[in-house]
Amino acid sequence: MQNSSTTTHPTEYYNDKVVKQFTIATILWGIVGMLVGVIIAAQLWLPGLNFDVPWFSYGRLRPLHTNAVIFAFGGSALFATAYYVVQRTSHVRLFSDKLAAFTFWGWQLIIVSAAITLPLGMTQGKEYAELEWPIDILIAIVWVCFAVVFFGTLAKRRIKHIYVANWFYGAMIITIAILHIVNNLSMPVTFGKSYSVYTGAVDALVQWWYGHNAVGFFLTAGFLGMMYYFVPKQAGRPVYSYRLSIVHFWALISIYMWAGPHHLHYTALPNWLQSLGMVFSLILLAPSWGGMINGMMTLSGAWHKLRTDPILKFMIVALSFYGMATFEGPLLSIKTVNALSHYTDWGIGHVHAGALGWVAMMTMGCLYCMIPRLVGKKEMYSVKWIDWHFWGSTIGVVIYIASMWIAGVMQGLMWRAVNNDGTLTYTFLESIIATKPYYAMRLLGGLMFFAGMCLMAFNVYKTLHHAPKVQAIIPQPKLTAAHA
Ligand code: HEM
Ligand code: HEM
Repeated sequence: MQNSSTTTHPTEYYNDKVVKQFTIATILWGIVGMLVGVIIAAQLWLPGLNFDVPWFSYGRLRPLHTNAVIFAFGGSALFATAYYVVQRTSHVRLFSDKLAAFTFWGWQLIIVSAAITLPLGMTQGKEYAELEWPIDILIAIVWVCFAVVFFGTLAKRRIKHIYVANWFYGAMIITIAILHIVNNLSMPVTFGKSYSVYTGAVDALVQWWYGHNAVGFFLTAGFLGMMYYFVPKQAGRPVYSYRLSIVHFWALISIYMWAGPHHLHYTALPNWLQSLGMVFSLILLAPSWGGMINGMMTLSGAWHKLRTDPILKFMIVALSFYGMATFEGPLLSIKTVNALSHYTDWGIGHVHAGALGWVAMMTMGCLYCMIPRLVGKKEMYSVKWIDWHFWGSTIGVVIYIASMWIAGVMQGLMWRAVNNDGTLTYTFLESIIATKPYYAMRLLGGLMFFAGMCLMAFNVYKTLHHAPKVQAIIPQPKLTAAHA
């Protein structure tokens, strides 16, 4: 770096084409996935909104929502930022442009296949692993190529040290590959139908080992990677404690693995295994909060920036929601609490505290930070719109999760209420009727969040076409054939 003999713009030195493509895909799929979320929220409020059309029914649109927001929106954000971060922190171009392009088009093909097959009712029936075997094989191939590009880039890095963000991305890539392959082992019977090789309680255990670690590695470790690069960047401060980040990393990845059985309390799973899942979930609070505190404290000495910088606000509020969700999770894993919360909307509130508050808001903060740098612009077209987006999303999430908490606890209490003679106090229908106003509230919160996403898309469009350019030339190492 110091011996640099040429100056080039980073966009020429790095492969930012694929980063841009994945960034646009993140925004596009965010809009689609959240729109479907809004539609199913509306259907729960007014069931007639499925218009008696099978492919528009709740049961088919719900997996479309979860797949779109997790894998299309969240996945594209992970690809975009991982490729951006690994190049910048290693000071080299991506290992292979062709393979990187293949991961982009392959991932989009997977998303489109999901968007066609799920409404048609083709599913393996495993939550977050609904897609049928031909698509699963494609996912495995694309993901392995992602691993090759990412680790190949790290292998040819010019910086000896591997920055901690890359550790989190790396753990995410390796673990998701293993989870995906093991959980989807199945016997195909036709092109669109297969049966899992696992049965009974083992099937459930493998599924929730997968499901929980999909949360832990896809929705958490990967986004922590984003946090460790973009929060210091936006705050203009080094990470609060680098030592803590390493302890955070090892503690988080080793504990997450064992917490999956908390999804199977009071089932046919052996009791000791359920308790083990609970204990590991309780311990998980410590590394989770260690990471949250490390992110937040990175603002030490720069707290005043929160007054004027809506991008930092996105990041810090995302970290706060991460703290909330990882406090609530261990609480829900306690068997007696789970006896009340399971099957209720409390779970849905918890999911969206993590998914909207943490995952989506961190994504937005990081994209707003990255996009101007990526396209050589001084800043986003409108900082005021980012502020509106921030407030709309924050208020939207709060309305969403508060309504689900109230609805969830109410449902749990109504379902377990018994009269003196042992009969149930309430019918199931009564609990549904009592929930209806909260479904309307959740719809309002979802609409606000969705509107913010649309405003973001418009701001990005305006930034690309109308924001002032940066002329600054950043010194870069000389690019030789060996590095190209
Ligand atoms: C406008 C924003 C959103 C709205 C209105 C929305 C709405 C919904 C609704 C109505 C459900 C079904 C709840 C039920 O079955 O009772 C749901 C489920 C789910 N959503 Fe969202 N959602 C939004 C954004 C997101 C995002 C951004 C993510 C992830 C990053 C996400 C992840 C999930 C997951 C994982 C589930 C399944 C939860 C479970 O099975 O326990 N959602 N969402
Ligand atoms: C310390 C961290 C966490 C722990 C111990 C934890 C624990 C739990 C527990 C006990 C449940 C309820 C299981 C049930 O009754 O069925 C649950 C559900 C869920 N959590 Fe968490 N959670 C944590 C963090 C998070 C975060 C940060 C996210 C999102 C980014 C998240 C996403 C989910 C999802 C999607 C579900 C619903 C799974 C389903 O049934 O479909 N969790 N979690």
